[in-house]
Amino acid sequence: MLDIQKIRQDFPILGEVVNGKPLVYFDNAATTQKPLPVLNALARYYEHYNANIHRGIHSLAEKATSAFEASRFKIQSFMNAARVEEIIFTYGTTDGINLVAQSYGRKFLKEGDEIIISTMEHHSNIVPWQMLCEEKGCVLRVIPINDAGELLMDEFEGMLSEKTKLVSVVHVSNALGTINPVAEIIEKAHAVGAKVLIDGAQASSHITIDVQALDCDFYVFSLHKLYGPTGMGVLYGKKEVLDAMPPYRGGGEMIKEVTFAKTTYNDLPYKFEAGTPNIADVVAAHNALEYVETLGKEQIAAYEHELLVYGTEALSSIEGLRLVGTAKEKVSVISFVMEGIHPEDIGVILDQQGIAVRTGHHCTQPLMQRLGIVGTSRASFAVYNTKEEIDKLVVGLERVKKMLS
Ligand code: ALA
Repeated sequence: MLDIQKIRQDFPILGEVVNGKPLVYFDNAATTQKPLPVLNALARYYEHYNANIHRGIHSLAEKATSAFEASRFKIQSFMNAARVEEIIFTYGTTDGINLVAQSYGRKFLKEGDEIIISTMEHHSNIVPWQMLCEEKGCVLRVIPINDAGELLMDEFEGMLSEKTKLVSVVHVSNALGTINPVAEIIEKAHAVGAKVLIDGAQASSHITIDVQALDCDFYVFSLHKLYGPTGMGVLYGKKEVLDAMPPYRGGGEMIKEVTFAKTTYNDLPYKFEAGTPNIADVVAAHNALEYVETLGKEQIAAYEHELLVYGTEALSSIEGLRLVGTAKEKVSVISFVMEGIHPEDIGVILDQQGIAVRTGHHCTQPLMQRLGIVGTSRASFAVYNTKEEIDKLVVGLERVKKMLS
């Protein structure tokens, strides 16, 4: 059993007062708050061993380099990757998808090839593929969903053919909370010879990720949704696939040798890490993963599920409120609309009561179009949230209704 009150004390920001009310932070799908071990690791790095990595032989540079590389090993074990060089540091999920589109996509995809995504993708898993399709003449195909927000797997199977070269789908929907059957998607895509990228931005904090068991070719996520710092993410790729890909950005670190006549490129993972990386945040990511491990990923998931069940029941009892995203398999994300009330007005009135939710299209405009709505209000729960906070949300929403209807 997790001691939630004790866990809350690890997150200083939860003591903030917002608009005269104690903060209720329900915008965890946008970014989670950071525990003291992460905050302390950032301060310790800058106070005691800030230096550029892989370049200096002085003591600070060596200490910074070894902390940076230790984080790579930590992430390798977090995702169960077979090799440490399969872990590429990026600036976040969006950066990882763009890397694959621009490097793998530009080299291996050609006119008429098909890329499959789904209706519930975040813009960051739509636009990079559209840009590639525009340049190469590839065709983007979209897996439809049902009204509950679940993928229509029969339709997906019907789309697969020898023309399918890449399937890129979200593991967990940021707007709906749906958990997609990614293992099945990967298996079926591989059967026609396609490569598969999984966008794990929302999954990594709720679900145990095992890239070898999944057998995906690429898996991307950001640490800031996993109690870690912003501006830092991971691209996992199978070694043989990454080895075949050209570099994405040119610069220092990604080279073996440079002459004006010719440059040879570095080995993995450095081939994809041009320039000074986000060293402090990579170092502190280690502490975020350790923090999650100490609490236990399964315990976190079980508690969040309890919050999801409690919150779903509590919000369903509000007259005029409709849940958006009612898949059987969900993480702790509750999206909803209220009759006759704009989502932004809900967000503003809740904020006046110290309650932070996200409102709008959640960077999933095509999904909102499919659902026939302009947007939703979204409460997304993390391990430090409580049922009492959900009760406050219910009171807040009743107040929204009183004020606006
Ligand atoms: N993609 C993030 C969200 O869903 C920012 O809020």
